[in-house]
Amino acid sequence: MLPWLQNYIQQETHCVIGLMSGTSLDGIDAALCEVAGSGDTLRAQLRGFLSVPFAPDVRERIQSACQNGGVEDAARLNVELGELFAAAALQLMAQHDLSRADVHLIGSHGQTICHLPDERATLQIGEPAIIVERSGITTVADFRPRDMACGGQGAPLVPYADWCLLRRADTHRVVQNIGGIGNCTLLPAGCALDEVRAWDTGPGNMVMDECARGLTNGERAFDQDGEMAARGPVDEAWLAQLMEHPFFARRPPKSTGREDFGCTYTSMFVEEGRRRGLSAEGIVATATALTAQSIAHSLRAFGASIFDAARARNIELIVGGGGAFNPMLRRMLQERLANGFTAGDNTHQIPITVLTHEDCGLRSDAKEALAFAMLAHETIMGAANNVPGATGASRRVVLGKIIPGG
Ligand SMILES: Nc1ncnc2c1ncn2[C@@H]1O[C@H](COP(=O)(O)OP(=O)(O)O)[C@@H](O)[C@H]1O
Ligand SMILES: [Mg+2]
Repeated sequence: MLPWLQNYIQQETHCVIGLMSGTSLDGIDAALCEVAGSGDTLRAQLRGFLSVPFAPDVRERIQSACQNGGVEDAARLNVELGELFAAAALQLMAQHDLSRADVHLIGSHGQTICHLPDERATLQIGEPAIIVERSGITTVADFRPRDMACGGQGAPLVPYADWCLLRRADTHRVVQNIGGIGNCTLLPAGCALDEVRAWDTGPGNMVMDECARGLTNGERAFDQDGEMAARGPVDEAWLAQLMEHPFFARRPPKSTGREDFGCTYTSMFVEEGRRRGLSAEGIVATATALTAQSIAHSLRAFGASIFDAARARNIELIVGGGGAFNPMLRRMLQERLANGFTAGDNTHQIPITVLTHEDCGLRSDAKEALAFAMLAHETIMGAANNVPGATGASRRVVLGKIIPGG
């Protein structure tokens, strides 16, 4: 056995860094975490966080690799992002005055540049060997392929952390992440891990961001504080048509990405908005409403059989990811969920309260990076850390690939 591993297992609490970059391509998130326990007893506390934005040219290169990149582009970008992920970890350590001996483990999600779940193909880049070489710290990366190897979609993986951090005995909860893509984790009151369900709800910020960027000639990277959407209006008739996209009707488990709602989709979206005579603000408002509507739709269409009115009388929907900072999006979501939810037996109306991670003692921007610190820790502990109810995998497995440090 590696002496390092013996050491790790003997510690009571572990200092773990989680690294994450999502489909928004806004930058690398790095979370410094204290992790203890495993499985049922897994606990985690955030000790520090930073987010390093991508330079515009890096962002463009990632985007073009996602769309039409060749193998050479991907291989080069893998190295470049490996350096950037390593630099983010080192910056976080410097900020907290930590040496390599103080940090026990890094969990790196990497950057997805291709995700084709139906073909069991996925590619996250940001070479972990470089992270290990620069930091000296053992790193777990490449979490998704193992789940896909046993028939899962490889996503979402954060529900494992949601279950650990946010399940409650007496309240049904939905953890709704709004990153580039939206995804929800359903945690019925008092649920065991095998009762957890999760799926992608559709676009999160991705369409809104691209519309805001395109319509302001790159002046805005996103609709800061929902300012454009607030000037709307939403084109409701168009919104109804947009909801006919086949992804929304598909039964979970399901996942999506830039392949469905990336640049090609947004170009058509903006063109159609213009054809309908909408202003830039109206187009962004309708994109915002599409995210809100698809979240509300997914809960009504697929959540009914999961939340039992006999187990709890209310649902808390906990919004996270960068979308949690968009007040217009939160308001549209609140409006669309105001009537609550009809439970599976069709007799009970369950009220829904919309909260943010901050209301639950967590950070909306840091939770996903925290989750990858937790997942990496479980990999080292040899604990199965996928959620078959979320990914559709045929069984529970230990995710990730380990690159030893030192
Ligand atoms: N103040 C804000 N107002 C509106 N949107 C915001 C704000 N802060 C962050 N965002 C949105 O959050 C996105 C980043 O969210 P994030 O959770 O990092 O997504 P991902 O996981 O896909 O990288 C930004 O692209 C932007 O759309
Ligand atoms: Mg991000």
